[in-house]
Amino acid sequence: MSITLTINGQAYPVASPPDTPLLWVLRDELKLTGTKYGCGIAQCGACTVHLNGLAVRSCQTPIEAAQGAQITTIEGLGGNHPIQASWVRLDVPQCGYCQSGQIMSATALLATRPKPTDDDIDQAMAGNICRCGAYQRIRAAIKDAAGEAPPPAAADAAPQGALEGAAE
Ligand code: FES
Ligand code: FES
Repeated sequence: MSITLTINGQAYPVASPPDTPLLWVLRDELKLTGTKYGCGIAQCGACTVHLNGLAVRSCQTPIEAAQGAQITTIEGLGGNHPIQASWVRLDVPQCGYCQSGQIMSATALLATRPKPTDDDIDQAMAGNICRCGAYQRIRAAIKDAAGEAPPPAAADAAPQGALEGAAE
């Protein structure tokens, strides 16, 4: 059975078996490599994409479950999305590996909560791990994209050592 996926508004017939995780198809078959492989077991958030606007872990989403849905990957944001502008303005990434997943979770949050509280952000972003500890700037960029001025200290580029062990 062949499956057609709708990704970033475009139809992609795919050859992989129906139980193949979407992440594998995105990266290996369709070469949409902006979505990252981190853990493969729904523990890190690096593979986050949208399925009908909701943030999902593509490493745990078989393509048969994604058929008929609108799938959006980081490529679908186009590079000039307001949240990407906030990310750039506040210089969020360090190594960058987790960042497409962070941005996809943040975008899904802002679509439903245009003015998210700190609790909203904590809940929405809890599954997205950043080994570089860029959590303060991620939070600041979400606030910035929501039109709220981030606290000055949060927007600062804190030395990595200062963030190690942070509860976030
Ligand atoms: S690769 Fe999917 S959650 Fe880590
Ligand atoms: S920026 Fe390096 S893992 Fe998040």
